[in-house]
Amino acid sequence: SGDIITLSIETSCDETSVSILKNGRYILSNIIASQIDQHQKFGGVVPEVASRKHIENINQVIDRALSEAKVTFDDITHVAATYGPGLVGALLVGLSAAKAISFALGIPLNGVNHIEGHIYANFIEDPTLKPPFICLVVSGGHTHLVLMKDYGSYEVLGRTRDDAAGEAFDKVGRALGLNYPGGPEIDRLSKEGDKNAINFPRAFLEEGSYDFSFSGLKSAVLNYLNSKRMKEETIDIADVAASFQEAVIDVLTEKTISCAKEMGIKTVCLAGGVAANSGLRELFIKRCQNENITFKYPSIKLCTDNAAMIGCVGYYDYIKGLESHLDINAIPNLKL
Ligand code: KG4
Ligand code: ZN
Repeated sequence: SGDIITLSIETSCDETSVSILKNGRYILSNIIASQIDQHQKFGGVVPEVASRKHIENINQVIDRALSEAKVTFDDITHVAATYGPGLVGALLVGLSAAKAISFALGIPLNGVNHIEGHIYANFIEDPTLKPPFICLVVSGGHTHLVLMKDYGSYEVLGRTRDDAAGEAFDKVGRALGLNYPGGPEIDRLSKEGDKNAINFPRAFLEEGSYDFSFSGLKSAVLNYLNSKRMKEETIDIADVAASFQEAVIDVLTEKTISCAKEMGIKTVCLAGGVAANSGLRELFIKRCQNENITFKYPSIKLCTDNAAMIGCVGYYDYIKGLESHLDINAIPNLKL
């Protein structure tokens, strides 16, 4: 048949993931082997441990992806892999596996930018979605407000000046004594807390700027906790979580929507691990409805790191005739 079958690999951080896609947007399999339990006792991802676990997992995850998709290596049209940004040792495991497959089968290789992958999760979720749109990419390492003009064509309109949104969630989570990663824990706790209990600062920055800053908010939460502990007053963890989350999602939503209005763009998308946040999704749904903006977001499994989103980028590069050479290297600080 004329179907294009993509095998894609993602190993930029702490998930070993392999996916098989049909014609770029249809998932045949999307296997995610998480290492979170390996890193939890350290309170964050340990790069050496991550690389080692990727090496142990990668071949099994490839086999599982093929068998779940009911295909063999002979059916694969091309192979895609994340080459940055991310942890260099972790990236090299997936990229090397992809090179080996490309070389052994004599099929094209497409190196993929991980941030671009997060955006493309929206194309898998909704096969009818087309550029242009504004996408807010919020993950553990990135906070980008992006105008996606066309496939492979972006303009970064704003970015964080300090911590990424997910990083702020994880740091505040640690200060609250929650497990790593703090994001999902804060999301869960927030549902039991009062979001108006504490008025934490919102950093809107200069008029007209679409940049973000979360370090002031993080410090405000830490100061609040320290002063309560010094005075030996009780702390309502759920109220702190809910008030912190509200401060983050208020700024993220407000800036994204005013940017879309300013640029005259009628569709807004979310992407990245923090896009899994239930409060963020709800607030976007409400405010976009008020502004007559179409709002799209990927299902939770496609928000956090996975290989399907990487394969989707690889597919669009492939059909454009783009191909990476076998000497492509991992680039830890690759930009969008
Ligand atoms: O995209 P991702 O899986 O990895 C990176 O590329 O960074 O994002 C991971 C980040 C972590 O900071 C995690 O705490 C955050 O996404 N996250 C969440 C939620 N689920 C994951 N943050 C807030 N609420 C959530 N439900
Ligand atoms: Zn990611």
